[in-house]
Amino acid sequence: MQRKALIAGNWKMHTTLVDGCALATGVAKSFDGKDDREVLIAPPFTIVSEVSHVIKDSGVIIGGQNVCWETSGAFTGEISPTMLHDAGATAAIIGHSERRQIFGENDEMINKRVRGAIKFKLLAVLCVGETLEERESGNTFSVLETQVRKGLDQVTAEEMKQVVIAYEPVWAIGTGKTASKEQAQETHAFIRGLIENLFEKGVAEELRILYGGSVKPVNIDELMAQPDIDGALVGGAALDVESFGRIINFK
Ligand code: 13P
Repeated sequence: MQRKALIAGNWKMHTTLVDGCALATGVAKSFDGKDDREVLIAPPFTIVSEVSHVIKDSGVIIGGQNVCWETSGAFTGEISPTMLHDAGATAAIIGHSERRQIFGENDEMINKRVRGAIKFKLLAVLCVGETLEERESGNTFSVLETQVRKGLDQVTAEEMKQVVIAYEPVWAIGTGKTASKEQAQETHAFIRGLIENLFEKGVAEELRILYGGSVKPVNIDELMAQPDIDGALVGGAALDVESFGRIINFK
């Protein structure tokens, strides 16, 4: 089954208006527009709108780094799916390990965000991943199973068309330590198997599973050559036009 690759750049809490727009312009210029892949960038909320103008007509899509499940109301500090649409975004990253670990988001809240994104027609990029301690104690698969099951609670097979899963081992984020291609492939295959059990074979075959954690120009090609790796969620290297340009144009 041929799945369209998705390379996503998570800018995290980096860039202001001028440098963010310059970065987005550079990304749009570097993308050679091959139709076997999609490119997504997720800038900070404050510049989503401006960046969406900069990348207009380039084929690059834009996402928020989080999303609430309500359209408006007393939710100080949150951003709603309709606000993201309004600013030009069509996707949202949800459940990133930094949200889980630093800001205490749990699987129940993350599930509400996923369902909110789906309801309002955003592509939901659900992030899952184990810590080093969990890996070393042999709990990787059970941790991932819980995060996937709870994150997708009440999501239907039909709605899974609007979901992408990003596997980001916490120990590989920002550390320069990438999971080996074998480790990543093994885990992606596990997640795909789980999705087949939770839904059906067709859903598992169509689901795009991205790898994240120290993805760089030097390792993107070997990661993308794995049968169950359908793309990447890139942090640090997404802030550099040359590096991200090489990653999105992986071979
Ligand atoms: P790095 O690519 O900097 O390791 O970050 C990965 C990540 O957290 C993307 O969401």
